[in-house]
Order: sequence, then structure tokens, then C-alpha cells
Amino acid sequence: MAKDYASMEDSNRSSNPSIHDISDPTRRTLLRGGLGATLSGLLAPLGGAAALTACASTGSAGSPLLGFKSVPISTTDTIVVPEGYTAQVIAPWGDPVGLSGENHAFKEDGSNSAAQQETQLGMHHDGIHYYALNGAQSGMLVMNHEYTDEGLLFSDGMKTWTPEKVRKAQAAHGVSIIEVEQRNGQWALVNPSPWARRITASTPMTVGGPAAGHALMQTAADPGGRRVLGTINNCGSGITPWGTYLTCEENFINYFSGGDTPSEHEKRWGLKKGGAGGYRWHEHDARFDATKNPNEPNRFGWVVEIDPSNPSSTPVKRTALGRAAHEGATVAVTQDGRAVVYMGEDARFEYIYKFVSRDRIQPGGARANATLLDHGTLYVAKFNADGSGQWLPLTHGQGPLTAANGFADQGEVLIKSRQASDQLGATKMDRPEWIDVDKNGWVYCTLTNNSNRAVGKNPGLDATNPRANNSMGNIIRWKDEGDFHGTTLKWNHFVLAGDPANTRAEARGNVKGDMFACPDGLWTDARGVLWIQTDMSTSAMGKGDLARLGNNMMLAADPATGEIRRFLTGPRGCEITGATGTPDGRTMFINIQHPGESPSERSDPAEPGKLSNWPSGKAGSRPRSATVVIRKRDGGLIGT
Ligand code: FEO
Ligand code: CA
Ligand code: CA
Ligand code: CA
Repeated sequence: MAKDYASMEDSNRSSNPSIHDISDPTRRTLLRGGLGATLSGLLAPLGGAAALTACASTGSAGSPLLGFKSVPISTTDTIVVPEGYTAQVIAPWGDPVGLSGENHAFKEDGSNSAAQQETQLGMHHDGIHYYALNGAQSGMLVMNHEYTDEGLLFSDGMKTWTPEKVRKAQAAHGVSIIEVEQRNGQWALVNPSPWARRITASTPMTVGGPAAGHALMQTAADPGGRRVLGTINNCGSGITPWGTYLTCEENFINYFSGGDTPSEHEKRWGLKKGGAGGYRWHEHDARFDATKNPNEPNRFGWVVEIDPSNPSSTPVKRTALGRAAHEGATVAVTQDGRAVVYMGEDARFEYIYKFVSRDRIQPGGARANATLLDHGTLYVAKFNADGSGQWLPLTHGQGPLTAANGFADQGEVLIKSRQASDQLGATKMDRPEWIDVDKNGWVYCTLTNNSNRAVGKNPGLDATNPRANNSMGNIIRWKDEGDFHGTTLKWNHFVLAGDPANTRAEARGNVKGDMFACPDGLWTDARGVLWIQTDMSTSAMGKGDLARLGNNMMLAADPATGEIRRFLTGPRGCEITGATGTPDGRTMFINIQHPGESPSERSDPAEPGKLSNWPSGKAGSRPRSATVVIRKRDGGLIGT
């Protein structure tokens, strides 16, 4: 029987409060469903051809996993959940983290200072995880803040731009750790809390793995190349069996301003003069001016490991996992106790990766596994048309990854993961977003969309990315042969998203159940339900192929039957991000990101509540990203 790493105590822990000090027999269920299954020694044998065809087009309706009545498409400025369910808003952007009192309160007009924002929840909530302190009664919520809307963040938007405003924007990024507790089915933040912590774009971090100290990681402020300030554009997340949180740096390059003549490396990563995201940090913070600090962008695009059980711990950028526009990082465990981290790179024609640790997970929590993610092998996926596939190692000296081809050492292979994957001939995907593992060892990945996929282009269509102008997205799944560390795989399409009424055949899809588009977030709960969250972009919403789909939504899928049922619709202009739950399966937490977002992704500061006033509902109020607590009125299991 596999060891239950998550519940092992760390006897060496200091006097800091520790989640490992609290006995919780259900703690194993904190792990994603696939992980929990793996830790129980469950690894279904590969099912061969029969299993490979068990996709969305087979199976019968009326899944035993899904007991709720689906909700309709919505264009209202509210959260809609099925009959018998409630949705409670907590932890909106700007609420204090671990503090209370007037000086820390959110100001409706966007006039909070940078110093105040440093002690408040960041903007644009994304990946999230519940770490139980007392089972389903209290715990920590650790969540990402992906990016900022300066039209909401400041009273006057970007009309003026100052060092103080840059500092406030940087403070609204990163990660929040908050304590929450339940009283009679209602959840609330606990302030003050010994666990509460903000991690921002300025928080000191260290670098681990083969790229630590590399010449390409060295800057004037950090000649050793091992100490970085902050994390940015934290999108999806992951958890480890040793109790840590993985936050993923996605569109980091947008914050950096390049020069007139970018290098080939800078071009491959999309560095632009003035920055690609309109953040303008480089105007007052030279760290983000790549003409002055050309290696600073190399210090972002990593998966960052945080130990929430130790509020004074230093986050570590894990370079062995490769550099990418990382969406998420999902950990599975092999039968011999090694960690496998699956990662998607959300950009058009980029790749899917997995990291296999060299060493086995040790009992003793975060401290005992402090360097586990620094040693191992990174692979990139190549999918074949016949349903097979290979994991190609990004190992220096193997195949084309040599000094003659521009890779001096392993550190350079990892810093230039995209170029290495190009050389290896990996499969260029339709924007891989979240990945999760089901109870039978199938690994699912959302391919959100790709408007540039076209016949006759290079790359054109392929078996895994089969639709031109892929406006609707799809979900593929694979099973690694032998175990999660296997270097060959079998794959199939779980579902091609779409609207059955679409006149464009390529956007119709094969959904067995309720229509949806642009899958992004994925989470397998303890019962095995695969939760799918959508991110139809605000520039595309309500038009063209997405005309009839309304607001973004969350759906529940039964991996066995392929049935998909719409569970929740969000307020206007939002996307649904991140999902987690209490170990008893009776409370679910999700995030609502960027309610009221305009197609330009920045609000008009003169009319901050023009498109949405969620969650307050008060006319003219600023829309605020927030966490939503979902419960059943009868206290039952979510999804039943
Ligand atoms: Fe930040 Fe790929 O979504
Ligand atoms: Ca996402
Ligand atoms: Ca988004
Ligand atoms: Ca997305």
C-alpha cells in the first residue's frame, strides 16, 4: 500500500503554527481526486482500444455522479446555481488579509494606497486550494491573483502613472493566504490569523534547480542569479502531497519592455517594446525594462513553490520544471513514490510538459521534500495521429539539445524550454490550460481555443488539434503507459466543445449534455466529478460562434459516461477560475475573475461599474473578483 505522505507529521518543524500539527484523518482527500487515488495505490491498467474509445460520444445519460438539475445559459449580472444550492461571496479584491480595522478597509473609489494593497487581497483571483486546519470547519485558502485592471485599481485609471501606482499594481499581484471558517454553513475570513500572508510581485524568493545561478539568470541587482523579487501573472495552481502550493507564472512577458531589435530568444518569448500587456511598470521600475536588465525576464515563467504551513518560508522558483507561460501544475504520484508534475503552456501553438522527480517523496512534509522538485527529468509531449504518443526528454546533450544548437547546458535548455521543444518536434497545441487526473489515471487537459489554427498553415491541423479556427476548444486526455512516469502514452478526445446549432460545422462539437466553449479550469473532486470552468474572452463573448453561450460558466462532467451538465453561470464579463473544496465534499470554493471586464481588459475609471456591479449589486460600484462558496441547502455533497 502506498504511503499517505500528506498526513505524515513534520517532527522537525519550528514553533511556527503548522497544519501538520493538527490530526486530520481525512486530510488525504485534500489532494485532487487523482492524487488521492494514486496514494491509495490505485493505478488502473491501461484499458487498450476499448478504454480509448470510451469518450464523450459513448455511455448513457443520467450519470449516477450528477444529481442536480442543470442551469440555463445566463446573461444576468449574478451567480446562478442549481435548485437546492447556495452561493455565498467571500474574500473580494481589497478585503484585508489577516488584519482588521478602518486603516485596512477597502475603499470603493479605488483610493487605497500601495501600502494598504500590500495587506489586502489582490485582484483577479485564479487558482485556489483549501488546506484544512480543522477538517471542514476551518482552513487556509491559498489563491492566485493573475493580473490587474488599472481602471478599477486606481481612482483615475492610468491618466497619471507614478512609482506609487506601480507599487500598488505590483502589490495587487501574487498570492493571498487567508484563514476561513464555517459557522452554520456560512463562511467568513478569520482576522487576525497567524496564517495570513500576502506574496506579491516584490516578495523575495529563491531559485532552485539547474537554472539557479545560471549566467542567463544573473542581473546587476542579483549577480548570483539565485534571488528574485516576486511572482507575476499567477494563473493556475497545483498542490503537492507534502503540503505545499504551486503557483504558476503565465503571461509574464507582457510586463517587460524590450528594445527595437529583440534577440532571437526575446522574439521567441514575445518580448515587445513598451510591453505587450499595457502594464507600463518599466516606466518607473527599471527591473521591468529589459533594455536595462535583459536577464530579468528569464527569472519569470517558472512554477513557484510556497509552503503555506510556514508563514515565514521563502517561496522557491523551481527551474527543473521548465520555463513557460505556465497555466497550472498538477502533481500525480507514481507507484514507487515519485512526483510527476503535468503542466500546460497556455499560448497558441505551445506545448504540454511533465516533470518526473528523480527521488521519492519522503515523509516529513515540506522540509523533508525541500529539493524534491529540483532534480528530475522534464519531458514535452508529442501526440501521434494513431492515438499513441511520446514524452520527449528536455535533457542537455540528448538529441538536438547540444551546445552546437545553442544550449550550453541544462540550465539553458530549461530557460529556453520553448526553443528546446521546437527542436524536439513536440506537438504544437491549441493553448493548453489546466490539467487534472481522474481516479483511473486518465490525465485531462483543456485546450481552450486557437483562432490561428488553419488548414494549409504551418502548423496546420493535426489529430489532437483537429479544428480550423478553433473558437470552441476541446479537452483531450491521455494515459501514460506503465505509470505516470511512462515515456509513451495513449490519448483520445474527451470532448470537442461547441454549440450544436452552430452553422459552422467545426464549431458544433460533440458535447453530450449542455453546450459550452473555451474550457479552462479543471478540477476532479473527491467523488470523481470533473469540474470544467470556461473562459470565453470578453472580446469574443456574445458574438460569432459564441453568440448563444451567454456568460462564462462551470459544468460538471462524469469521466465514465462523458455526460456534461451546466452547474453554475457567472456574472457579466467574468471568467470562472480555480476550484477546491473541504475534505467532506460539502463545501466548494471557486473564484470569479474580472467581473465586468471590457474587451480591452481595462475599465473606464469614469464608469467603473458600467458592465457589472458584482458582487455588491449597487449601481456604480466597482466590480470585484471574489471567492464564491457553494453549499447545498440540505448540507449534502456538492454535485448530487
Ligand atoms: Fe490565465 Fe491561461 O489563463
Ligand atoms: Ca486560466
Ligand atoms: Ca483569462
Ligand atoms: Ca483562459
